[in-house]
Amino acid sequence: MAEDQNQGQELQWKKFEYVGTVINKVEYSHTILCLDPLPQPSTIFVFLGEGNFTFSTAFAKLRGSNYDEIVATDISVSKEIKDGWPRRLRLDATKMGETRNVFLEKLFLDQKPSRIVLWFQCPWADKDENGRKYSNQQAFLKKVMAAAAKVQDPGELLLIGLCVDPTLPKNKPTEEKWVTSYGNPKAVAAQNGYECLGADREFVGKMLDGGYEHQFTDPGLNFGKRKILKENRQFATLLFKRQQLHPAQGPHQTQDP
Ligand SMILES: C[S@@+](CC[C@H](N)C(=O)[O-])C[C@H]1O[C@@H](n2cnc3c(N)ncnc32)[C@H](O)[C@@H]1O
Repeated sequence: MAEDQNQGQELQWKKFEYVGTVINKVEYSHTILCLDPLPQPSTIFVFLGEGNFTFSTAFAKLRGSNYDEIVATDISVSKEIKDGWPRRLRLDATKMGETRNVFLEKLFLDQKPSRIVLWFQCPWADKDENGRKYSNQQAFLKKVMAAAAKVQDPGELLLIGLCVDPTLPKNKPTEEKWVTSYGNPKAVAAQNGYECLGADREFVGKMLDGGYEHQFTDPGLNFGKRKILKENRQFATLLFKRQQLHPAQGPHQTQDP
């Protein structure tokens, strides 16, 4: 990451103490994510479970600077691009590395960043590590947060984007609504040493304008027919900040919420 090209904007947030947003019966402070052209330390943005890579590409466009500060990853990447843009790597978001250094080595960076932002837009796992069908998204989120806690330092941001449209999926009445299948991310985050800063309900709108396409298959529709979520109101971005833990607490805990 060359410092002289470092004109990118920093990810900031504004918190509105007296307004809340309720997601799956849990209240979150209303927070607005924004990009500010501030002097900044070198930050690496690691996008997890990027699917078709339109989310990280929209972010790079929005941020308008060094593409080498953005790493897009997914467990399904078969052809990695380790250098240049788009940097695409195969990464299991539940096993990022036992330490920060091990994780950084996996990212093939020229220099060590001073900050790591992790961002998983719409976490969803269909299969477990043995390839068996899997449907416990709450457990998946818990594993992702526990893995994040091993590699992030206090003060660093973990962003979790959720589809909060209470009507989806529409076409199979027996299917659990997506927003409920996540359980209580705030409680899981607290167990893993993350403070919840709130939920943003606007930033994804900018990403959609920048070309983000969230594709999904509605289980009641013809198999294989893909649809795209197009509206900002269908998303929320939860912001979590890694906390300073008491040494006796260890790196992470994994009890049920
Ligand atoms: C619902 S899709 C979201 C894709 C994209 N982030 C978006 O918003 O359009 C969930 C993604 O998580 C990925 N995924 C599932 N298990 C994963 C794991 N253990 N590690 C990393 N990615 C995983 C899938 O391959 C898929 O691309």
